[in-house]
Amino acid sequence: MNDEPDGGCSTVQGLVRGPGRQRTLHTASLSEALRRHIAATWAFRRQEELDAGARFVRLGVSLEQLEAPEPLILLARRAAEDERRHAGMCELMARTYGHEDAEPLGSAPRAEEAGPPELGFRERVLYGVVATCCLAETESTAGLTSVLSVDGPPRVRAVLRDILRDEVAHSRLGWAYLGHAAKEGSVAFLAPYVPAMLEDCMTPRLFAQGLDEADGSRLMAHGVLPSARKVEVFIQALHDVVFPSLERCGVDTSHALRWAERRRASGV
Ligand SMILES: [Fe+2]
Ligand SMILES: [Fe+2]
Repeated sequence: MNDEPDGGCSTVQGLVRGPGRQRTLHTASLSEALRRHIAATWAFRRQEELDAGARFVRLGVSLEQLEAPEPLILLARRAAEDERRHAGMCELMARTYGHEDAEPLGSAPRAEEAGPPELGFRERVLYGVVATCCLAETESTAGLTSVLSVDGPPRVRAVLRDILRDEVAHSRLGWAYLGHAAKEGSVAFLAPYVPAMLEDCMTPRLFAQGLDEADGSRLMAHGVLPSARKVEVFIQALHDVVFPSLERCGVDTSHALRWAERRRASGV
């Protein structure tokens, strides 16, 4: 991989191997700061995918213990495999954009116990499903759809489309399980917890430093959604998809709506 600075610009030509062929990403037009941010974002995303994989492993076991419908247990196991595959793709992309070998690409997967301790096991599992699948996967789906609206290198788009296809399925798993739980009993207890779940989804974990507005579309072309756009896209998805679906299952969204209004007003 060539990542020698060239007159203030990076001339990375990373190789990403597709099935049975090699492709080259030309990133000569990227400034060093932009390239580093893109590389760091893909590396960060890899860790998020590993963590998501660990959460789906745990979820599969929990759904089995709760004797959830077999297709949902199988979907959770499949999702765990998908996330590990996504992590591999993100690692390759991070290295393609020059993520230095000396920098660790991440730690072991983390899958903290989801759900407040005052809830029972069944409720904590449902909390985890809503936070992970209905909210985080929907946020991911909305973000990926948004970056795919901008033209970019074909290989980047292929990776994004591949991940997007699976994240849509992961989000459907969440809605299917919430629907199943709502048929078995009330899920209204979730309502006051939704703002905390949303906050967790939207906490910026990676900040772009030294990048300006004009870099936004270039970031998107390389698969990175700028933070401000991320908030906008997520809040739109909340209104279009998440809130109506929660209401249909009997989860009051008035707390969540107030949270969304505050975030939209602050713009961060
Ligand atoms: Fe993923
Ligand atoms: Fe996912």
